Amino acid sequence: MILGAISPKSDKDRRTTLHPNSIKPLKDMGIEIFFERGLGTGIDISDEEMQKNGALPASREDCLSRSDVIFSSEPISSDEIARIKKNALVVGLLEPFSEKEQLHNFAKANVSALSMEFIPRITRAQKMDVLSSQSNLAGYVSVIESAKHLKSALPMMMTAAGTLKPATVFVIGVGVAGLQAIATAKRLGAKVEAFDTRPVVEEQVKSLGAKFVKIDLGDTGQTEQGYAQELTEDQIKKQKDLQSEVCSKSDIVITTAQLFGRPAPRLIDSATIKKMKPGSVIFDMAVESGGNVEGSVPDEIVETNGVKIIGLTNLASYVADHASYALSNNLVNFITDFYDQEKKSMNLDMSDEIISSALLVQNGEVIKEMFK
Ligand code: NAI
Repeated sequence: MILGAISPKSDKDRRTTLHPNSIKPLKDMGIEIFFERGLGTGIDISDEEMQKNGALPASREDCLSRSDVIFSSEPISSDEIARIKKNALVVGLLEPFSEKEQLHNFAKANVSALSMEFIPRITRAQKMDVLSSQSNLAGYVSVIESAKHLKSALPMMMTAAGTLKPATVFVIGVGVAGLQAIATAKRLGAKVEAFDTRPVVEEQVKSLGAKFVKIDLGDTGQTEQGYAQELTEDQIKKQKDLQSEVCSKSDIVITTAQLFGRPAPRLIDSATIKKMKPGSVIFDMAVESGGNVEGSVPDEIVETNGVKIIGLTNLASYVADHASYALSNNLVNFITDFYDQEKKSMNLDMSDEIISSALLVQNGEVIKEMFK
């Protein structure tokens, strides 16, 4: 089997899908590995170093047209899909919710597509969970970037010139990104509070040494897969009203609330922003899926009444080396578990929960109902 890793075309993404450290396990299985020349540029890895680890440099065209499996960290254009070898498998971050047409292009070209965004959050698949590995780093980056824009330090400091109060950080949405944002802000010495609609999260927040903000919204629950349920309009209104008091006292507010595959809930409106202290910072991590914060703009820092609203995207790419290491391990772990040594090809067995969740296109057909 030939595996080819292609570079992201977006200059905002510095990650690579094949870190030198994860080449060996593939080689050990007898897989031939090609990479697009310059693949490691974003993390200062030269083609020579990739070669030393056992992968061969190739043109993008060769990676597309000769590989049986292609790694990609972004969606692929229709022109390029048409040039992929028939019956090949593309594995990567394919953004299927916003790039639905792409799936039909894969089907037309008789190319299978497995979207790592759909790897189920089950124990066996944790080592392949790209969304978690990248969100974890993104949560860290959200705190570091927010801190850069705050005009005070995060920890309390007792100095001869007086006692400097710790910054207060409020994290809304405590999934993977939120938990890491809490942990990072705590490590930096801030006073941290957090809220999530899933009641089970309270214990996790407390175990990180942060305070869980109690907002009684009645029955909020969670789906069978452990995701948050959409709130009613009344519940959202209540949440906004009760939360705005906490926001008004916070130096940094980080919002990470999301509902899988749906637009992000709008949780901070202009009325709340008006109550906040000038100089305070809001980081809207959900900016790309509609935004939790009124007025946030992807890749911009907007100032409203002296409050900075940060909408940076591609956050994992700010720590591209670690992000590539984790992303590449996730992808290689997927290959390792589903590579058939005897047949020397991938075993895409639909009776396996991981395959049936993440394989979106197979045998010239879009097979996931919601994308048909
Ligand atoms: P996740 O699904 O693990 O966590 C989302 C959390 O939001 C869940 O705990 C859920 O219960 C909570 N939530 C839903 N509705 C809520 C509400 N009304 N109030 C409070 N909490 C609510 O998601 P993850 O992986 O932590 O990602 C969080 C957000 O960050 C997503 O929007 C994701 O797209 C974004 N993200 C952005 C990146 C960037 O580069 N800008 C990188 C990675 C993630």
